Amino acid sequence: MKKYLIAPSILSADFARLGKDISKALAAGGDVVHFDVMDNHYVPNLTMGSMVVKALRDYGITAPIDVHLMIKPVERIVPDFAQAGASYISFHPEASEHIDRTLQLIIENGCGAGLVLNPATPLHVLDYVMHKLNTILVMSVNPGFSKQLFIPSTLHKIRQVRYLIDKSGYDVCLAVDGGITMNNISEIAAAGADMIVVGSTLFGQMDYKKIIDNMRCKLEKREYSSFR
Ligand code: DX5
Ligand code: ZN
Repeated sequence: MKKYLIAPSILSADFARLGKDISKALAAGGDVVHFDVMDNHYVPNLTMGSMVVKALRDYGITAPIDVHLMIKPVERIVPDFAQAGASYISFHPEASEHIDRTLQLIIENGCGAGLVLNPATPLHVLDYVMHKLNTILVMSVNPGFSKQLFIPSTLHKIRQVRYLIDKSGYDVCLAVDGGITMNNISEIAAAGADMIVVGSTLFGQMDYKKIIDNMRCKLEKREYSSFR
């Protein structure tokens, strides 16, 4: 059976107790820490920088940290995140003048590289770089905020990206980010996602394990019973 990755998006976590809240999400079954970086320029919101990645590593977080850069320009800051302990770094092609150069920079800094596709970003940006990609992150909302509604037309885009990855023969992880809930996770998985990013559906809820267990049931098309 396919092993789906669940990536808690810490944008919705408790920032006053970040290390603790992330540890809780990982202990409940989260696989990868999804780390949203916003600059109030490329997107109209502001979050956190590389020093927070370092603080999480120092705190003892050993899970992969997947840095989702929603910033422009991208390149100056890449080495900072790599040195701070990022495992993967993804950026939006619209935010880089030289997509291939930025991907190469991430790889040379020892991280897996990813491209992030907004709902309206065309797929041709993938044409000549598939071999450099560790991840393609399909945005199912416009970037900038948590708790937005899933945009249904992105399901078709997920299917198209799945097709392109399979056709390329490269081992690229297809991640989906934004508005994912218990009601649409099965459909997103069926469209071809490998990694599910989940923010507000998880953080701030009472029982993280119950939510992640329930998500895994939906991913594997099993019935969830809280009495197991
Ligand atoms: C939005 C971010 C997402 C966000 C997801 O720009 O990239 O990672 O935190 O949050 P939810 O799951 O609440 O849509
Ligand atoms: Zn994100």
